[in-house]
Amino acid sequence: MSAYSYEVHNYDVVVVGAGGAGLRATLGMAEQGFSTACISKVFPTRSHTVAAQGGIAASLGNMGPDDWQWHMYDTVKGSDWLGDTDAMEYLAREAPKAVYELEHYGVPFSRTEEGAIYQRPFGGHTTEFGEGPPVQRTCAAADRTGHAILHTLYGQSLKNNAEFYIEYFAIDLLMSDDGICQGVLCWKLDDGSMHVFAAKMIVLATGGYGRAYFSATSAHTCTGDGGGMIARAGLPLQDMEFVQFHPTGIYGSGCLITEGARGEGGYLTNSEGERFMERYAPTYKDLASRDVVSRCMTLEIREGRGVGADSDHIHLHLNHLPPETLAERLPGISESARIFAGIDVTREPIPVLPTVHYNMGGIPTNYWGEVLAPTKSNSNAIASGIMAVGEAGCASVHGANRLGSNSLIDLVVFGRAAAIRAADVIDRDASVPAPDKRSIDATLNRFDGLRYAKGQVPTAHLRLEMQKTMQADAAVFRTGKTLSDGQKKMENVAGKLNDLCVTDKSLVWNSDLMETLELTNLMPNAIATITAAAARKESRGAHAHEDYPDRDDKNWRQHSLIWFTGSEASLSYRGVITSSLTSHNEGGIDLKKIAPKARVY
Ligand code: FUM
Repeated sequence: MSAYSYEVHNYDVVVVGAGGAGLRATLGMAEQGFSTACISKVFPTRSHTVAAQGGIAASLGNMGPDDWQWHMYDTVKGSDWLGDTDAMEYLAREAPKAVYELEHYGVPFSRTEEGAIYQRPFGGHTTEFGEGPPVQRTCAAADRTGHAILHTLYGQSLKNNAEFYIEYFAIDLLMSDDGICQGVLCWKLDDGSMHVFAAKMIVLATGGYGRAYFSATSAHTCTGDGGGMIARAGLPLQDMEFVQFHPTGIYGSGCLITEGARGEGGYLTNSEGERFMERYAPTYKDLASRDVVSRCMTLEIREGRGVGADSDHIHLHLNHLPPETLAERLPGISESARIFAGIDVTREPIPVLPTVHYNMGGIPTNYWGEVLAPTKSNSNAIASGIMAVGEAGCASVHGANRLGSNSLIDLVVFGRAAAIRAADVIDRDASVPAPDKRSIDATLNRFDGLRYAKGQVPTAHLRLEMQKTMQADAAVFRTGKTLSDGQKKMENVAGKLNDLCVTDKSLVWNSDLMETLELTNLMPNAIATITAAAARKESRGAHAHEDYPDRDDKNWRQHSLIWFTGSEASLSYRGVITSSLTSHNEGGIDLKKIAPKARVY
């Protein structure tokens, strides 16, 4: 019996998270006529999607020839052949529709002279199945594309009568004894009250867990809350070893400088003033895939050709570009460079360093966003009552490495897909399930235990220890030694969760307690990352294992699944889906075109 009272809310659908994926799912659900609530720990338009700069990929062909099959090929190659073929086909085929919908909802895209949506080049996006020149596929609203999308989707969701619960923190999923998700329990941050949201479908759209690392482009709110809830619910996380480092975080602050900067003609140099990417990726140079560029930068620094007093970063040049291009196409990063690096981009290069940016791994789903509960006999079995979309989910379209601008399109394509699927699987006439009392009590007890934690370790100290360990031992390059040392250190760090001290016991605007809850979410994500990385004996995409420098399709073309029993992590594997949605005869891709081969740019 818990000391906390709570209010109960009933909805057809409850979406947790109000970034691009959460809002697109919310809007889609509301448009289908479902009673829909969206819960967010921050004001919706402050969700991390607001920081997405360069754009959203779709083969509109506004700037030259393009084809959804070329987009699919690039995504498959970018994923280093770890993405699921059905999901990658769905993404590339649906992308143009999803972007035109955004345009019609009111997203203020930049325009060509003819009035079409402006598109810029981004890394790894090419023509002719990787044989042709780079393509301009990334639709942009200057360098504030995420901002534009988020504001539009929020307005449209309100217009369609979605209800918002803002500054509510989701503590845990409410699961029945037989594994059905029946709701989510939330803490209202501004008055301390508790709320049970019962729903026929919960959609997790909680974003990534970049803040498991010390230096990340991600907002401080990116604490893997969905992954934490899923791990505690006894469901697995997938492909967590694949953490993307964006080549151009500002040195020191980690603030993002969009890949669109290189798309508009920017380039990288080392201490010798050399455009070193020409050596590593002769065809696509600075527009090679992100994992490739990040590794090349790291190698240049390691080999003594870094810039600056400590030779520990790289220069990004935009100073050769016309000032009017910078003002029109890249106003946001011009401002960021001034504020965070003291640089006038029209005159000087920006100091940059590969910085944690995106989690390819997450909650395993099919391409409709339905969460998987794999069993021995069925690796694609579906968990009831729960979906996951956006960076929280793993459909898996990005496999071992995501292409730039494939994130925003993932958010809207799969947020939209979740709503399309919900129309088929939700029984409109059924009543909303009443969540099990046992599950509610267990969640309130966990909350209460953390609120009154009387150990020796302040949350902020433990978080820093976790972040520094992950930064050092699960980095751009990994070795068997760094990974096994890191694994041991992380076991020790996670053990200290039992010795936390929370000094503020109040319930109203208690950031100490909220950050503690967030830390309990970050931790399983971090443990899963280092555990799966230590186990994967190959190099693929963002997982560059120096003891195993080659990709090994025979043994490792499979998804890792990390399961938790308490704080104990265990691993199993699931096959990559290699069949497409549409056969070649029906206009689908020729599977021979996307067969695994060496990945060169
Ligand atoms: O570089 C960027 O603008 C980031 C885009 C992305 O991660 O997709």
